[in-house]
Amino acid sequence: MNRRLTASCIDINTPYCPCLLAETNHCVFCSHLRGQPVCDCNWGGVCILYEKQWQPKNVMAKNGGGPSRTDELGRIVRREPLGKDTYLLEVAVTEELARGLEKTGAFVFLRRPEDPQFFHFPVGVMKVEGRNLQMVVEAVGPKSNRVLEDQAAELLVRGPYYNGVLGQPWIDNITCGKILLISGGMGQAPALPIAAKLAANRNEVTAILAPGHVGSVFIEAELVGLGVKTHVVDSLRRTGFALVTGRLGDGAEKPDLIVSAGPDEQHYGVINAMQAAGLNLPMAATNNSTMCCGEGICGSCTRETQDNRIIRTCKVQTDFTQLL
Ligand SMILES: Cc1cc2nc3c(=O)[nH]c(=O)nc-3n(C[C@H](O)[C@H](O)[C@H](O)COP(=O)(O)OP(=O)(O)OC[C@H]3O[C@@H](n4cnc5c(N)ncnc54)[C@H](O)[C@@H]3O)c2cc1C
Ligand code: FES
Repeated sequence: MNRRLTASCIDINTPYCPCLLAETNHCVFCSHLRGQPVCDCNWGGVCILYEKQWQPKNVMAKNGGGPSRTDELGRIVRREPLGKDTYLLEVAVTEELARGLEKTGAFVFLRRPEDPQFFHFPVGVMKVEGRNLQMVVEAVGPKSNRVLEDQAAELLVRGPYYNGVLGQPWIDNITCGKILLISGGMGQAPALPIAAKLAANRNEVTAILAPGHVGSVFIEAELVGLGVKTHVVDSLRRTGFALVTGRLGDGAEKPDLIVSAGPDEQHYGVINAMQAAGLNLPMAATNNSTMCCGEGICGSCTRETQDNRIIRTCKVQTDFTQLL
């Protein structure tokens, strides 16, 4: 598999392109739509300049100035405790939104209908069943507490957004490969749809799972049902990373792809294990940036790359190891 991942925009080839960035001449992909005289794009199967000029199918054109993703009211149909301050929420949404979220790295913004817009926060979609979205929410602060308190019956759900996993093309394109999936705590929620996608493409997936501060491993049964080989450890730091190192060391059959679903510290632990084994394998990783608008506008998710670019990680697909 190609180790090099070309940076691109997650919204290309979706109904959400051209987006507000193209409208304001800040497209992350098309140099013409950044005011430059020449085209230097890595052809992604679509010309955004052409789409903007001749196919004004969305954004300003369709909605008279607003972004094309809108809040919709979803009914909470299930609320189940999974661990410390952590709940599985199942929310019924429209058919259109549910279908739009059946994609690797898909997430939504949630808030209470009575709360102002700045209460909304990103939450990954763990599973889509019919029109129901299964999500896992951990109450860690003001925004996440609000959606879990008072037995709320409805939530505003805004989406679909797609850049919840960096290195997503590796996950989508690999077939019949060997994958090592490492997932701890809240990282289990995004790990499940990633494993489902990999298993559907006939990959052999081995998962190392740890309860983290959630205190429970809640996806093991589903992973086993998908044919994933699971190893549950009490802690990634204490025993999990040693297991990862062992699987990458001399004599072991090396994976084609590593996936780290968890906090950034976990991603760095996996990178350290790879470096200790003298390997530089492709690694997909959950995107843990702070996101406020999800549309490439507010700037809260910007990260610097090793080649001195500032990227908006709600939009730009890149290799996690290239972030500073
Ligand atoms: C793509 C993506 C998917 C996510 N999926 C889930 C999920 O499935 N379940 C879940 O419980 N949480 C998820 N999160 C994290 C969740 O958005 C934060 O826990 C939440 O925003 C915290 O807000 P707060 O007001 O409750 O806590 P705060 O006290 O404001 O913050 C607590 C922690 O959350 C981080 N945080 C705060 N605001 C944001 C924000 N706008 N975006 C991202 N991180 C923030 C802070 O850096 C801090 O580490 C996801 C984040 C991203 C970017
Ligand atoms: S979340 Fe606003 S620019 Fe990325």
